[in-house]
Amino acid sequence: MNENKVAMVTAAAGVGIGAAVARQLAADGMDVVVTDAHARRCREYAEKWSEEFDREFLALPLDVTDYAAVGEVIDTVIEKRDRLDVLVNNAGWNKIEPVAEMARETWLRSIDVDLNGTFNCMRHALPRMIDRNRGAIVNISSIAAWETSTEHGAAYSAAKAGVHALTRVAAAENGKHGIRVNAVAPGLIYNDFLRKIYPDEFFDGYVENRSLVGRLGQPQDIADIVSFLVSDKAGYINGEVYGVSGGVYPHA
Ligand SMILES: NC(=O)c1ccc[n+]([C@@H]2O[C@H](COP(=O)([O-])OP(=O)(O)OC[C@H]3O[C@@H](n4cnc5c(N)ncnc54)[C@H](O)[C@@H]3O)[C@@H](O)[C@H]2O)c1
Repeated sequence: MNENKVAMVTAAAGVGIGAAVARQLAADGMDVVVTDAHARRCREYAEKWSEEFDREFLALPLDVTDYAAVGEVIDTVIEKRDRLDVLVNNAGWNKIEPVAEMARETWLRSIDVDLNGTFNCMRHALPRMIDRNRGAIVNISSIAAWETSTEHGAAYSAAKAGVHALTRVAAAENGKHGIRVNAVAPGLIYNDFLRKIYPDEFFDGYVENRSLVGRLGQPQDIADIVSFLVSDKAGYINGEVYGVSGGVYPHA
């Protein structure tokens, strides 16, 4: 039987945080289940990593907003890998519209992907972890949950703030089952796709005027803290939210 930790990462086949996290957990020795709403890319990433690491990566296409599909995917993980030790809820969605002009669909979509999607995965994963008295969950939120800003969009900010509350309560409920639930709130973690969401002014002068570390965030910055939080080295950390923003939004 495979004794590596089994880890599932959502939205793992994009150009940003999810793929970096999945690859890092694989490099840490975990058996990573690649899930993403984009079925073709999901399979391509799993194939690429299977070759790179010389072991099979399971590819399970999944839109996290589909509650029943999440249940089926987690059943498949248990069937094929026997357990689920680590869950990283990375899927997110944002469209920036001021509240006074926001389409109702924008509000609902953000809540659905960012908050409901995180709940859906936790709801199906937690009983499996409770069965084994072991597990670690990391939810990827955003400093948008904290900032007073016109830059993020209220639906996204509200959904990510909801993720923080969900994280804390789930940690309180499940610590006694050996399960830790934490969140990471990134600041700007650059990928080219963000150019489609944020106006050019958002990026102008970001490094010079806002970052305290003289550079933009990279997906690996988040992969590194997730790697730590799901490891046994973080055994005393539960119910926390860690900001990782290059000092743009230090949060105590
Ligand atoms: N990039 C940033 O600057 C930044 C900052 C703060 C927070 N975050 C959060 O980090 C997470 C990752 O963002 P990223 O920008 O690094 O992108 P990413 O590359 O990690 O994710 C993009 C992937 O998400 C998949 N996806 C989209 N909707 C999905 C759904 N409903 N179900 C499953 N998969 C879905 C897409 O197919 C794509 O492959 C998100 O939760 C985002 O809100 C990102």
